[in-house]
Amino acid sequence: AFPADVRVVEVGPRDGLQNEATLVPEAVKVDLIARLAAAGLRTIEAGSFVAPKWVPQMAGSAEVLKAAPRRPGVSYPVLVPNMKGFEAALAAGAQEVAVFAAASEAFSQKNINCSIAESLARFAPVMEAARAAGVRVRGYVSCVLGCPYQGEVPLAAVVDVAERLSQMGCYEISLGDTIGVGTPRKAVAMLDAVLGALPVEQVALHFHDTYGQALANIYACLDRGVAVLDASVGGLGGCPYAAGASGNVATEDLVYMLEGMGIRTGVDLEALVEAAAFISAAIGRAPASHLAKARGY
Ligand code: HMG
Ligand code: MG
Repeated sequence: AFPADVRVVEVGPRDGLQNEATLVPEAVKVDLIARLAAAGLRTIEAGSFVAPKWVPQMAGSAEVLKAAPRRPGVSYPVLVPNMKGFEAALAAGAQEVAVFAAASEAFSQKNINCSIAESLARFAPVMEAARAAGVRVRGYVSCVLGCPYQGEVPLAAVVDVAERLSQMGCYEISLGDTIGVGTPRKAVAMLDAVLGALPVEQVALHFHDTYGQALANIYACLDRGVAVLDASVGGLGGCPYAAGASGNVATEDLVYMLEGMGIRTGVDLEALVEAAAFISAAIGRAPASHLAKARGY
């Protein structure tokens, strides 16, 4: 059955901006985050603590996290690939982090410079330190519907990595169609395979919209009861280690669909579309969402 409520995880300030060549000032990112929180989003991924020479745009994530407005009920998870990242995130006040693995060996190598098994081994001390510090950890699995380097990704690999992250203590597993190649039946088959191993309450969907399929894929998966959906304001983004990958499904298009279906998100659509216009103007382009176009931005 369709969920009655969906928690939208806004990844624009991280996934949306990480691939942007023009460096966005920290103050602009903080302003964006404040607008997203004011629009009603409760989970806003604020940045990532990765090697700055790999992803220069995220270098100021500590400053962004420290300056993000504290609001009751709003959390600001940040990505951490290893202990170095976790320690920096903790020092900046992170109360929630995300580790990120891939279902594709080739992608794991390009993205984080190690094998899937090595990445999981690096996460083990992060999980332990997070538990000790009372920090919640989300887990990502990339390339669940295809890989830019190896093409097909076996479903068994997706299920295996998702299950391991869950066993390690991730409270939620976000299934990433990193390059947006999925189509609805494949997306549902992938989700069903994961739901053979994990309860639906632990699963989130993270679909990029490269081929314009993200909303269709989400709709197809929604009646399995998935109630956590990742999206990026203005449809910003892409992964720096997945050439040609475009942004996540636009948050405002997702909210429009969900609210239109009677599924509550708690998000104010007009405030959200204004936030999309704000960040798109800051990086010098028109918002990629249908809703922004429909509203004349
Ligand atoms: P490496 O080069 O193998 O690591 O990188 P290393 O341990 O050899 O360190 C190299 C240098 O990086 C050293 O500095 C370290 O100190 C530094 P140097 O001595 O050369 O000056 N370093 C760090 N600096 C800051 N923070 C850290 C950190 N760790 C090491 N945490 C590493 C390995 C993982 C660090 C690197 O490959 C990396 O940073 N990769 C970034 C990958 C990334 O951010 N990708 C995008 C996010 S994932 C994504 O978008 C997918 C997702 O959206 C889901 C989906 O769509 O599928 C989540
Ligand atoms: Mg992504």
